[in-house]
Amino acid sequence: MTVRIHPSILSADFVNLEREVGRITAADAVHVDVMDNHFVPNLTFGPQMVERLQAVSSIPLDVHLMIADVDRWAPGYAELGAECVTFHAEAAADVVATARALRERGSLAGLALKPGTPVEPYLELLPEFDQVLVMTVEPGFGGQSFMAETMPKLRSLRAALRSDERSIRLQVDGGITVDTIGIAAEAGADTFVAGSSVYGADDVEAAIAGLRAAAIA
Ligand code: DX5
Ligand code: ZN
Repeated sequence: MTVRIHPSILSADFVNLEREVGRITAADAVHVDVMDNHFVPNLTFGPQMVERLQAVSSIPLDVHLMIADVDRWAPGYAELGAECVTFHAEAAADVVATARALRERGSLAGLALKPGTPVEPYLELLPEFDQVLVMTVEPGFGGQSFMAETMPKLRSLRAALRSDERSIRLQVDGGITVDTIGIAAEAGADTFVAGSSVYGADDVEAAIAGLRAAAIA
């Protein structure tokens, strides 16, 4: 299994984001949490910040949209050059149309599911997506505890992937530490978002390496 580690800059120093992104060169992508104070009760940044991050980052951007009316806004993030744009099923009117709009603009298309959202309705839509994000906390804030009760969704997804769909990333986000990453990996995740466990560490690159090792232990 190829383990991907995507540190979340939600836990980084917001007034020094260029420097903060430059600290995670051992990561596979930088996870960028866009929040609108509507879909989630927290506010971060929008397309202008993503555009600047794209310009200064040496690793790809993995944009996680936690915004309402996402069918309207998601394609613009793909146009900024993000490698992957992930939107919430709960915020989308037409998940297939939005996924296709993302791919048409050259980005990977990701579908995110809150902890209480069942995965079954989406299993037949997997060919429309490049990544499925199983939230392992309620979206909105860093530093929350991993919800192991979401693991059956990962197992269902992993079991549903046909041989020609194995490149679809199964991502987890929320409460990922050296103590929980192995649980998610065992359930089928291969792409791991980590905010506080990376940016809260004294040695950020060592924290990334530690997560990578713990995922396959
Ligand atoms: C939460 C965000 C996460 C957050 C994770 O809604 O989507 O990406 O940064 O933070 P940790 O890793 O601290 O749980
Ligand atoms: Zn996120």
